[in-house]
Amino acid sequence: MATRVGLYPGTFDPIHNGHTDIIGRAVKLVDKLVIGVAVDSGKNPLFSLEERVAILQEELAHLPVPVSERAEIVVMPFKGLLMHFARQVDAAVIIRSLRAVADFEYEFQMTAMNQQLDREIETVFLMADPRHQAIASSLVKVIAQLEGDVTKFVSPRVKEALMAKVGRS
Ligand code: COA
Repeated sequence: MATRVGLYPGTFDPIHNGHTDIIGRAVKLVDKLVIGVAVDSGKNPLFSLEERVAILQEELAHLPVPVSERAEIVVMPFKGLLMHFARQVDAAVIIRSLRAVADFEYEFQMTAMNQQLDREIETVFLMADPRHQAIASSLVKVIAQLEGDVTKFVSPRVKEALMAKVGRS
């Protein structure tokens, strides 16, 4: 039987509870989930690519979904066009999440452009969990830098990495 590959792309700078929730749900929908970490998505990341990948791997080791109930998960950095990377990893579907109406415009445009680039690869949207609707990596970083508490938004492991990064450990 063919393996259905899903691709979940992002900057993951760093991974937060919203991302983890999407990963935990996506692994039940495909046979293999590739988490594509954008080398450069124009966001000037706080964490290096190596750090973002390492933090992600660590989070995956603690994913609250039994191994028997989930797809194989692979973390891969990627450069260049998402659709080229999707072809490279044989993805049948790209998984994105929608938090609020504000996300729609951007996601709509990106999906429409991506469809023009490759019509065979579908994009599927998962609604962000209401508990995580407001989370954004950029806001989590600002809160950490301004000595706020990020406990509700990231795992204890990511919190530790963030604290060390902003010199608060
Ligand atoms: N709950 C809460 N927040 C969520 C979430 C969820 N379920 N899912 C995402 N977010 C947040 C993220 O933290 C992020 O916040 P930030 O912008 O403050 O960092 C924001 O929503 C969007 O991030 P994300 O979904 O991770 O996307 P991204 O912007 O990091 O990644 C790429 C975008 C990498 C997919 C895109 O830039 C890309 O495809 N680049 C390659 C070049 C290309 O092909 N471009 C498209 C041409 S049409």
